[in-house]
Amino acid sequence: MATRIQIFDTTLRDGEQVPGCKLNTAQKIEIALALETLGVDVIEAGFPVSSPGDFESVRAIAAAIKNPIICGLSRAVEQDIRVAAEALKPALRPRIHTGIGVSEMHIRYKLCTTPEGILERAAAAVKLAKSFVEDVEFYAEDAGRADNEFLARVLEVAIKAGATVLNIPDTTGYCLPEQYGAKIKYLYENVKGIEKAILSTHCHNDLGLATANSIAGISNGARQIECTINGIGERAGNTALEEVVMILRQHADLGFVSGINTRLLNPISQLVSEKMGVVVQPNKAIVGGNAFAHSSGIHQDGVIKKRETYEIIDPLEVGVDHSQIVLTARSGRAALAYRAKNIGFNLTKDALDEVYAAFLIIADRKKEVVDADLLELLKPVGIPVTAL
Ligand code: KIV
Ligand code: ZN
Repeated sequence: MATRIQIFDTTLRDGEQVPGCKLNTAQKIEIALALETLGVDVIEAGFPVSSPGDFESVRAIAAAIKNPIICGLSRAVEQDIRVAAEALKPALRPRIHTGIGVSEMHIRYKLCTTPEGILERAAAAVKLAKSFVEDVEFYAEDAGRADNEFLARVLEVAIKAGATVLNIPDTTGYCLPEQYGAKIKYLYENVKGIEKAILSTHCHNDLGLATANSIAGISNGARQIECTINGIGERAGNTALEEVVMILRQHADLGFVSGINTRLLNPISQLVSEKMGVVVQPNKAIVGGNAFAHSSGIHQDGVIKKRETYEIIDPLEVGVDHSQIVLTARSGRAALAYRAKNIGFNLTKDALDEVYAAFLIIADRKKEVVDADLLELLKPVGIPVTAL
């Protein structure tokens, strides 16, 4: 029996921290509703104390969403926690996400305190949050670079104070998958009281390892993945939701499932891209414009014969209508014949040879040969075609 992984979406909080991605309340509600339909388990709706607008958005989302848990972020600061609790009041399933830095770098240079000071503030923050809501998640900021023994002590204090989810952020995207996996394993095996809580991954992508680290995390005991649509987030972004979800699906042998309706992955990717005004890079896994496009002759020939020769995912499974055969100077005859057929021309072998020579001349001049170019090529009188 596969283990269910909780999908914690932070598009509206960590994702919205991206410069230029700011959303208004109506846009945030639209995305939250789409996330609910997608099937996420937790929506981190914002950081209520950060601005009146964010407070209002969290409140409105808390009122509009029925199924997922609605989470509000706070620092380990009394006012933050009180404001988060207030914003979450309309939620059917509220969660306060509070925490503090635990690496030497954060303790000494950012928080200007001592390890003992961190333990005290962690306990007090969780205790206060717990006085408002049952569901309290504690984040150990910069856990990726923190000493594991100290990290374990902080988590023990958080569990004692009532935390039920323990977030282990690789805040700076520093860890290698082996290191992050080993950290989760260490915590799973050494934190007293860990059976009362679940471990959560929150990985940043500074070295392009966020997705790999999240998978290493669940392979070593974590049961929740924090992620964003299109992998947006601070700096190089967060773990991409669509990537981890499809990894769980493609590698069923790992023994994990999520509750995500994968057919909605592309529509929600486009919605987030449009609302936030951030273009999805064409080569982005799962949701990029080229994720199911084939342009080299060798690949095209294979895909036309059998899609699975070069595709591990059926595009329909992630909400893409069909694979694309793109015509470029690297395309072969098979692709040209295929695309000609799509617009109504069944070329004989001689006709194909003739058109292919002309096609290459145009293709060398243009980045992509589109249907209009193809029609021009096929137009000249005398090109024999068989009727479809
Ligand atoms: O990256 C991080 O450490 C965070 C925390 C606030 C959860 O986003
Ligand atoms: Zn983060």
